[in-house]
Amino acid sequence: MASVPELSLPPVVQTARWIFRPTLLLDRAREECGDVFRLRFFPGRALVLTSDPADVRRLFTAPPETVPTATGNSPIAPLVGEHSLLTLNGPPHLRQRKLLLPSFHGDRMRAYAEIIEEAANDRIDRWREGDVMRLQPHMSAITLEVILRAVFGVEDAARQTELRTAIENLLLYTASPRAAITAIRTLRTGELVGPFARLAGEMDRLLYDEIAAHRQRGGLEEREDILSLMMCARDEDGESMTDVELRDELVTLLLAGHETTATSLSWAFERLLRTPHALARLTDEIEDDAYLDAVIHETLRSRPVVPIIGREPQEPIAFGEYELPVGTFAGASLYGTNHNPAVYEDPKAFIPERFLDRKPDTYAWIPFGGGIRRCIGAAFAQMEMRLVLRAVLRRVRLEAVDPAPERIRRRNITFVPQHGTTVRVRTVDRAPARPEAVAVS
Ligand code: HEM
Repeated sequence: MASVPELSLPPVVQTARWIFRPTLLLDRAREECGDVFRLRFFPGRALVLTSDPADVRRLFTAPPETVPTATGNSPIAPLVGEHSLLTLNGPPHLRQRKLLLPSFHGDRMRAYAEIIEEAANDRIDRWREGDVMRLQPHMSAITLEVILRAVFGVEDAARQTELRTAIENLLLYTASPRAAITAIRTLRTGELVGPFARLAGEMDRLLYDEIAAHRQRGGLEEREDILSLMMCARDEDGESMTDVELRDELVTLLLAGHETTATSLSWAFERLLRTPHALARLTDEIEDDAYLDAVIHETLRSRPVVPIIGREPQEPIAFGEYELPVGTFAGASLYGTNHNPAVYEDPKAFIPERFLDRKPDTYAWIPFGGGIRRCIGAAFAQMEMRLVLRAVLRRVRLEAVDPAPERIRRRNITFVPQHGTTVRVRTVDRAPARPEAVAVS
């Protein structure tokens, strides 16, 4: 059987490319090797990636116990905890997923639309004509506000501020260069160390306080926030989630749902501002869902925030003509699959129209992964993108400060716009447009 082709660059160079120009690395690997290739990072393990939808389907539909996630061995594992949906495998993962799924059901989403619109309009109220700013922190502020209210259900203003500060301090630290060193120590010991431990401890204290406050307040069945729903959920044996499980899932939803959505929104604006006809059409058709959804699908295709996902196959699995033995670190390139030229004509171009007459394909459009581990917040994220884009484009005209596209930069495990989508506010309408009926689909 043929062996998986390898990129002809030394591991040190591959690692440097992955750190500084990750898409150059992935693009070159595809050009040299095709849909399936092996990367070697220094001093880590080799990783086999595929961008072929047929392999992606095989990976996502394999029995879950045969393809456990590799996230349990990553530096975020001690932060999200041992009960996190992101790190669990097999039956415990399934149990936890069943407990969480109802919170993300379509009907539930309607309750969050108002929170999202309010958070977006409050943020827009701060913008002034002529402001030059990075949109990314503004989008992060909106998505954090939404998580605090829709997911954590924090109502008390003082508690909201305290928790927001603790979370921001922790996230700021994870993005700092010092965090990379702490991450290596964390990986070695399997425990949070140094500032990580202190900052996470502060956040945990506030989360446990909030869980206790929810319990004390009672009336959980009537409340609509996700924490209340999780507290009411029962598994097949009638068991509810423990406080530690609740804490782990809250941190998971925060880490998985906050920056990912904010960055996808930043990319949507970055792409639209470089594609004037798409921006003009979207502005004209902003009250309709059709073009807005096509823009969101195309943004998530061309700028998938999570570029790759890793698995640890426990049985041999085939990627194309290659059979990967047990012990191979293997995964799907979400970036590569979403840019596969066999599926997408002119894959580097931003063309929302390609999604006007076709729905995204389950295994060729994979910004949210797939199968049993598909992002549980995918509908939530797309609704949030829809409502925030609409709120901004109803009231604000933006322009790019530099007309050149912003490069894709890597931050932790995500792909972000190099300059955080730097824009100038041309005009801003002071009166927030608040439609009578909130459109949710
Ligand atoms: C545009 C925004 C988002 C993107 C691009 C994104 C992407 C992803 C991807 C690629 C995965 C699969 C990981 C894997 O297979 O190993 C995932 C899983 C997950 N995401 Fe998202 N996500 C987004 C928003 C959200 C939101 C808003 C939430 C919740 C509030 C969320 C919660 C989760 C959870 C809990 C998982 C783990 C699911 C499981 O393993 O069963 N995500 N996400």
